[in-house]
Amino acid sequence: MITVNVKRFNKETDEEPHIESYEIEEYPGMKVLDALEEINRKYNADISFRSSCKAGQCGSCGVKINGNGALACREEIKNNRLIEPLDFPVIKDLVVDRSSADAKIKELQLSLDCDNKASHENLKPEDIKDTKKVRSCIECYTCLSTCPVVKHFKEDFLGPYYLRYISKFDFDPRDEYDRLIEALDSGMYTCTSCGKCGSICPKNINSFGDAIEKLRAMAYARDLGPLDAHKLFKNNVVSSGRSVSKPKEPFIESVHKKWEEEGKYYTDENEDKEKVALFTGCMVDYRAQEVGYALLDVLKANNIEIDIPEGQVCCGSPLLRTGQVDVVQELVDRNKEVFKDYDKVITICAGCGATLKNDHPKYGSKLNVEDISEFLVDKLDTSKMKELNTKVTWHDPCHLARGQNIKDQPREIIEMIPGVEFEELELPCQCCGAGGGVKSGKPEIALELAKDKAEMVRVTGADYVTTICPFCQINIQDGLNEIGLENVKTLNLIQLLKMAYDE
Ligand code: FES
Repeated sequence: MITVNVKRFNKETDEEPHIESYEIEEYPGMKVLDALEEINRKYNADISFRSSCKAGQCGSCGVKINGNGALACREEIKNNRLIEPLDFPVIKDLVVDRSSADAKIKELQLSLDCDNKASHENLKPEDIKDTKKVRSCIECYTCLSTCPVVKHFKEDFLGPYYLRYISKFDFDPRDEYDRLIEALDSGMYTCTSCGKCGSICPKNINSFGDAIEKLRAMAYARDLGPLDAHKLFKNNVVSSGRSVSKPKEPFIESVHKKWEEEGKYYTDENEDKEKVALFTGCMVDYRAQEVGYALLDVLKANNIEIDIPEGQVCCGSPLLRTGQVDVVQELVDRNKEVFKDYDKVITICAGCGATLKNDHPKYGSKLNVEDISEFLVDKLDTSKMKELNTKVTWHDPCHLARGQNIKDQPREIIEMIPGVEFEELELPCQCCGAGGGVKSGKPEIALELAKDKAEMVRVTGADYVTTICPFCQINIQDGLNEIGLENVKTLNLIQLLKMAYDE
């Protein structure tokens, strides 16, 4: 027996929506749509909902399930799920009025603008490969009700559905209309690249990577973008190889100085031993050096040797995410050369890890990359850890959970630390707002999303929010400070581990 909660509203009889709970007998593979039908049968509940094909093809059965958009005919029902209508005006219960979306499509003139018959006839498959990736949408609109930016900033960001729609025509060589200006006006630089829309899309359309990121690259090529704050990344990369400004003493430089003074900690004398190297990323090398030093302590406590090679440069993530792609190949090549003799490359920043794993192969470099949590999860000596007596929660960075499919290992590590009480956030995978150049380019939007996250932290009563991304770390701390939770600190998971290993 499971409980299913349904948000109900009948504008004829109700002043406000309300939640009703129903108990039903579930069976393996039962879908949300089956559950709604069973509730109507068992309780004579008369819940209104839409469905047609029942095969994930028509897009009519889109609803929100525990806050995320999904097709009711495809999503399995689980105990205590909350089924709500999508974020459109509600007609009754789960049936919404989607006419505003149709009107917007008309206003944006989203239809193929082509008078030239010959351009259809001469089309080769490679001409339409980009548009093909983004044209299988079934108009379920679930992405619009899932996007964390649309939730707060509808005026600034039309959302993944529309950007994808614009790109479908912009990438089509037959289309004669210039769509880039529309894309810019629709909030192209307001997307945080969280990838949530792609993860819930029933057609697996990657609206950020295959639409928005490409539109940003096209805008850059035509000098229509990016935002001024984003140009700084590139200026920094060109002058120092790092996307942020240089501190007095970068982490890698100071570690090598120390190693030389004390006798080098890393040794590669043993030919048979796996050679592991740390990819620090710009933030740990130039700004969040405390994370790098914490890692050195944790490694030392566990007798793990990792090299930190000099000469490594930015992974290119801030440039790729903002469309400034012209120097990326050079960065990939430089890193490929630096890490070519290592068996494994460890990252300590979710964005760097996702970029090395997912983007670099497209530029000809395929290193064996692991996030620090993947690397450490089976190597930590728990007998050396001391009790911390503290309450901790965990924020899943988008580029770790969705970008690298890593969710379990950080939690396993937290649970290993004695005296740590772990409590999950209500939505640990919800974007904190820091990515995609939004923290630098649209800080007010990043802060608003961080405040959402901070409110979830408040509910847990945690002393520390842990994560593995310096950008999330800074942004969530800003959100916590903003809502008066300055005492709660965000840490890289490695900093929490360091506390456990401190003498
Ligand atoms: S009923 Fe057609 S997609 Fe679900």
